Amino acid sequence: MPKRHLITCALPYANGPVHIGHLAGCFLPSDIYNRYLRMQGKDVLFVCGTDEHGVPITLKAKNEGKTPQQIVDENHTIIAKGLKDFGIHFDTFSRTTHKLHHETAQDFFKNLYDKGIFKEEVTQQFYDEDAKQFLADRYIVGTCPNCSYDNAYGDQCEQCGRASSPSELINPRSALTGNSPILKETKNWYLPLDKIQEEFLNEWVTNKKSSWKSSVYGQCNSWLQEGLKPRAMTRDLDWGVPVPVKGAEGKVMYVWFDAPIGYITATKEAAGDDWAKWWKDSETELTHFLGKDNIVFHTIIFPAMLHAHGEFILPTNVPANEFLNLEGAKISTSRNHAIWLHEYLEDFPGKTDELRYALTSILPETKDADFTWKDYQAKINNELVAILGNFINRVIVLTNKYYDGIVPQGSLQQTTTEAKQKIETALGNFNQRQGLEYYMEIARNGNKYLQDTEPWKLIKDEANKQAVADCLFTCIEIVKEIGNYAQIFLPNTSNNILSLLNISSYNDTIKAGHQIGSPVLLFQKVEDETIEKQMEKLQKKEEVKPESNAQNGQEESSSSIEPLTKSEITYDDFVKLDIRVGTITAAEKVKKADRLLNITLDIGSETRTVVSGIAEHFSPEEIVGQQVTYLANLAPRKLKGIESSGMILMAEDANGKLKFVAPNESTDSGSVIA
Ligand code: 2FM
Ligand code: ZN
Repeated sequence: MPKRHLITCALPYANGPVHIGHLAGCFLPSDIYNRYLRMQGKDVLFVCGTDEHGVPITLKAKNEGKTPQQIVDENHTIIAKGLKDFGIHFDTFSRTTHKLHHETAQDFFKNLYDKGIFKEEVTQQFYDEDAKQFLADRYIVGTCPNCSYDNAYGDQCEQCGRASSPSELINPRSALTGNSPILKETKNWYLPLDKIQEEFLNEWVTNKKSSWKSSVYGQCNSWLQEGLKPRAMTRDLDWGVPVPVKGAEGKVMYVWFDAPIGYITATKEAAGDDWAKWWKDSETELTHFLGKDNIVFHTIIFPAMLHAHGEFILPTNVPANEFLNLEGAKISTSRNHAIWLHEYLEDFPGKTDELRYALTSILPETKDADFTWKDYQAKINNELVAILGNFINRVIVLTNKYYDGIVPQGSLQQTTTEAKQKIETALGNFNQRQGLEYYMEIARNGNKYLQDTEPWKLIKDEANKQAVADCLFTCIEIVKEIGNYAQIFLPNTSNNILSLLNISSYNDTIKAGHQIGSPVLLFQKVEDETIEKQMEKLQKKEEVKPESNAQNGQEESSSSIEPLTKSEITYDDFVKLDIRVGTITAAEKVKKADRLLNITLDIGSETRTVVSGIAEHFSPEEIVGQQVTYLANLAPRKLKGIESSGMILMAEDANGKLKFVAPNESTDSGSVIA
């Protein structure tokens, strides 16, 4: 039994507000866990804050003509308010631009540096001679080697989603000036993850196999199987925590080095001089909550850092969630396909528990989940209003009607013990959706008991007087338990139930003679028009040119239907493309490349080899015989050592699903498409 629990929630980037994907990905799960542990009387500290460094923030500042500090100040305030409004109750909501954080991260870095942990390496990096600065991967754009999109970033192509490095881009240019960057030598400090893997990570991760979610363990294990490489922990940038060692002037820490140290800073802010027991005592249990795009940082890189430092505890569990989609499509900040917390609150003032409920009931615990407005409406109308609200309202109304609101002398006819045990077991195992179902079971059983007992019939006969009193006495106890457990799932409702029962805490005992409050409805029905309006709003928002911001705990979508933004071309440009029908005659996976298939293509006059990034969508066996549309005269290039000729053209729907584009009936291979 740990003596205390430290819960962390992934620090959202302060380059935009947060949306329901963030809420379902990590804010709600961590908040529920925090509330559950506290209810059990555990000693808990729950920390978070904003992640205020990183290149996307500097890019946004540049685009908006502001300083990075202005951007993070604005967003920190909006994010903190949104989370507070939704009852996400941190002990501290810190910031990585705080002085204390810079000091904490620098101490950490220095500790590793003094121990000789880092490997210093001089490499060639892109440098913009006009801007006089090295270019972070995001500051380099060029043509994607995979899909030919000509505005791909140095680290990822937003069109095809392929992760790459700047040196793979065709015609790289600086996003600052548009110039071709030169390569220039620079020294950086690398964390030797390969070495740490051998001496520590392999065994540490293996021991987590039975206690971590299989998705988390699986992802982590596949990184280890591939073999870790040293990773640079410093960057040539001017926005971040300055690297506190000689020879590193003008360099800052890699954002993923300083961000998790933000958990330590936040602990110092919350606990003051007493902070060390939360991080340095093996009797503290550390749990990290996050979305699946952050798994590697919390299961490999941060543990490697903590291990190298040596004085800190490591996470016991990392119950990462999958992603939340919205109306069948990925949430996308760049397409504005999102429900932002502050916008929801404008349209549904005070209705935070309603959203908490709808989201908790579909948390993406084991696979991606889909939020739809229709489901939201159904959950509120059929569950919160019809079951939970209805039961409590009937109990309060009947008690007021039969006893003027004074609790009658009765004996308990039903207990909620079983449901309560089930809730607690589920929550202890991070099965929060299930925990919510068990919670609703208390209200369902209460309704059934009331319905079966029918006090409104019994009351007609004086002989049943005691039975009516027993029934309402029992129901009031059930209402109290619903309110008690609402502290975990529905914090506002929990307070409202305190008022209905006229008690100040769920530790109060309700005895006969206690005066309860008057009936007030806890939830209102959501009308069809309200939902239709939200669905229209979502569509309209996507038509407006959106603002882009990176996400946290919920990766930016790389698979949206792109607006028509390419510049006009002439017929002469078009006829340069040699587009043919091809037939796949063989296919196999490319080793050590999850996304790539090596495809043999018959194009009539000859056979071509095409390496295509479709392995996550199709198995090699299922595509043999498939006819495709093939761009035959695209210059060949090498991918994973294989020479790939031309490109198979694919259609990508709004959900990022790829489909082949084939003639509507089988045609000779090599047929010209024009
Ligand atoms: O993905 C993100 O949004 C990151 N800002 C999460 C950081 S979590 C922690 F390490 F700080
Ligand atoms: Zn691409």
